[in-house]
Amino acid sequence: MAKVLVTGGAGYIGSHTVYHLLRAGHDVFVVDDLSRGRLESVEPSRLQQFNLLDTERLASLCRSERFDAVIHFAGFIAVGESMRLPELYFRNNVSATISLFEAMDAAGLRRLVFSSSAAVYGEPRGNPIREDSPCAPVSPYGESKLTVERMLRWLDLTKGLRSVSLRYFNACGAEPGSGLGEAHEPETHLIPLLLRAVKTGRPATIFGDDYPTPDGTCIRDYIHVSDLAAAHIAALEWLLGGGATETLNVGTGAGHSVREVIAAVEEVTGTKVPYRIGPRRPGDAPVLVADPERLGRLFGWQPRYRSLREMVRTAWDFEKTRENFRGGNG
Ligand SMILES: NC(=O)c1ccc[n+]([C@@H]2O[C@H](COP(=O)([O-])OP(=O)(O)OC[C@H]3O[C@@H](n4cnc5c(N)ncnc54)[C@H](O)[C@@H]3O)[C@@H](O)[C@H]2O)c1
Repeated sequence: MAKVLVTGGAGYIGSHTVYHLLRAGHDVFVVDDLSRGRLESVEPSRLQQFNLLDTERLASLCRSERFDAVIHFAGFIAVGESMRLPELYFRNNVSATISLFEAMDAAGLRRLVFSSSAAVYGEPRGNPIREDSPCAPVSPYGESKLTVERMLRWLDLTKGLRSVSLRYFNACGAEPGSGLGEAHEPETHLIPLLLRAVKTGRPATIFGDDYPTPDGTCIRDYIHVSDLAAAHIAALEWLLGGGATETLNVGTGAGHSVREVIAAVEEVTGTKVPYRIGPRRPGDAPVLVADPERLGRLFGWQPRYRSLREMVRTAWDFEKTRENFRGGNG
């Protein structure tokens, strides 16, 4: 059993990982300022509500609790927002992470799993994407993730901080029966937006249908949030077992177009999705599909969810339980 600090544990992927860590018998503390998280996603006794930029408070928590490792989810996640507010993204995703590194150093804490993103690749030359493909982010969000990855390599060399950076592709779905699910406000992710369009009747916007793909819409690799949580636990165990610093893709290796996702949503909900086609969004690559071979080989990890329909079904089961929500793009 390990004692783990989870930053951003009140958020979508963090709360699922906390759920699975606890089920696996680990002890978990969450630091989250709730700027984008949900209070109801964390047991109050496990939550410390403050911003990671408060280095002193973080260092004193790390010193007193003597964590074995940190899983670092906290950050802002919206690509479009990062184009409007780059300073906010560099402050919250880079400066706050430096604050975490300083607090960890003050407590002699040297193991970290980091939430990176496929956004580090920008517009890749080919698919599926391997970890050694060139990184060329096309947004401040992607740049912020790549900056942290690069800092982690230096902290390994200079301080012996061992880390696993997990480059997630498109997280989706919900752990059945957990009460947890995807509820970003504002929401920018396709599946919850389509489900909200079904619920409200207000059309979702599809950003471009003239891409060089078979049906003209963008293709993405959807990875179920419970499989992502399992990848974090595998990364934690790797580090606790003395494993070296790694950077790994997390995806299924299969791509689905926006139109295929719409079809899956219609099949699961039994309702036509109202939507309209809008212009392309700057920085959206036509295809982003992971090569997850290295993650499977090193950690023995395989996704349990491979069917898009099953992933959408878990998201729909969660969405149906949510009566009140604001936002949506309709
Ligand atoms: N959702 C995806 O598809 C996806 C894909 C790739 C990478 N990621 C990365 O995974 C991580 C988690 O994503 P998510 O979808 O769960 O996001 P989320 O917004 O649901 O969760 C992030 C949590 O971090 C907290 N937080 C943010 N900044 C903080 C700070 N400075 N101090 C304390 N708490 C802070 C928020 O309140 C929120 O609860 C992020 O780092 C994101 O960049 C997500």
